[in-house]
Amino acid sequence: MKTYKIALIKGDGIGPEIIDEAVKVLDAVASCCDIEFSYEEALMGGCAYDITGDPLPQETINISLNSDAVLFGAIGGQKWDNLPREKRPESGLLRFRKELGVYANLRPAVVYDELVNASSLKPEIVKGVDLMVVRELIGGIYFGEPKGRDENRGWNTMVYTREEIVRIAHQAFKIAMTRSKRVCSVDKANVLDVSQLWRDVVTEVAEEYPEVELSHMYVDNAAMQLIRDPKQFDVMLTGNIFGDILSDEASMLSGSIGLLPSASVGAKIGVYEPIHGSAPDIAGQGIANPIATISSASMMLRYALGENDAADKIDAAIKRALKEGYRTKDLAQFDAKEVCSTSEMGSIIANYAAK
Ligand code: NAD
Ligand code: IPM
Ligand code: MN
Repeated sequence: MKTYKIALIKGDGIGPEIIDEAVKVLDAVASCCDIEFSYEEALMGGCAYDITGDPLPQETINISLNSDAVLFGAIGGQKWDNLPREKRPESGLLRFRKELGVYANLRPAVVYDELVNASSLKPEIVKGVDLMVVRELIGGIYFGEPKGRDENRGWNTMVYTREEIVRIAHQAFKIAMTRSKRVCSVDKANVLDVSQLWRDVVTEVAEEYPEVELSHMYVDNAAMQLIRDPKQFDVMLTGNIFGDILSDEASMLSGSIGLLPSASVGAKIGVYEPIHGSAPDIAGQGIANPIATISSASMMLRYALGENDAADKIDAAIKRALKEGYRTKDLAQFDAKEVCSTSEMGSIIANYAAK
């Protein structure tokens, strides 16, 4: 029997609630796939700051680097919003991604047939949507220097190097080769020099993938096209901030941000995390949708551990729970036969996944 070491970072807000459900589901598939998980918890975000004075203690990095993969919940909340920037939970997360070197954030947006009515768009627009946002994660305006503010000015710098663009472009083209072989690179090359470099380098890298059809789109148009006709997209390749925004937008194709998982990869250890945040408005109420996190655990099995059977079981269990009409509160108005709590949804999926 194989044992995998998983670092668990629950974080703040709904983080602990959703991670607990993902662990429940992982343990359920472990028992029938002849694998085993040993978990080690590590602190990050506001909870880490409250205990240690640092949103990203060194021990969290050590535990993560010493694991096979990291399963991450969410961080942040109003309580920490007025701390100096480097003490904020969000800064801990950015530093974490940078330290691990996970430069590629894969954010699939899939519309489950059972939930076509849950989207804010018409069913015929969203039915069958299956796209993948490939978001550069450790560069761009989030990290560029100079940055800062004084009383009257604030400034950030959007910078990408050729090397950073080359490696994320390769990720996108490789993923496209396993899908419909279409990449749409999203930028703002009509205005930004950094985007013109992005476009030129992506075009160069594309020459190594002659089977893949590359198109380019300005980010403002992409935001519009995503809700006009989302099925035109297969892989959307984009930088850090555009990818952040477009993936939240894409979540509404599927009906709830509580459904969208992600994998942050490109380094030795990957981080598997829902795309949503700590949802302070619903934390502690037992109503958060755990599916984004459970689905992130499935991506972890597939991408980090090569346990595809176990991942398939989880994916099938999520579909079955939705098909049978189980809904958390975020999706309660849409063909729900039974509205369930976070932990009930976790148990239902765990139960199906174990079969
Ligand atoms: P959010 O994603 O936390 O919440 C946005 C809205 O979506 C809220 O109404 C929330 O209740 C809802 N929502 C989110 N996840 C849900 C789920 N699983 N089930 C049901 N509903 C869900 O974004 P926000 O409100 O802008 O940010 C809250 C905090 O989270 C901030 O401190 C922010 O910096 C942080 N944040 C963290 C991450 C992360 O840890 N990766 C990501 C985004 C935001
Ligand atoms: C995300 C979040 C983070 C980001 C924040 C909390 C730093 O919005 O994971 O999407 O912008 O990357
Ligand atoms: Mn985000």
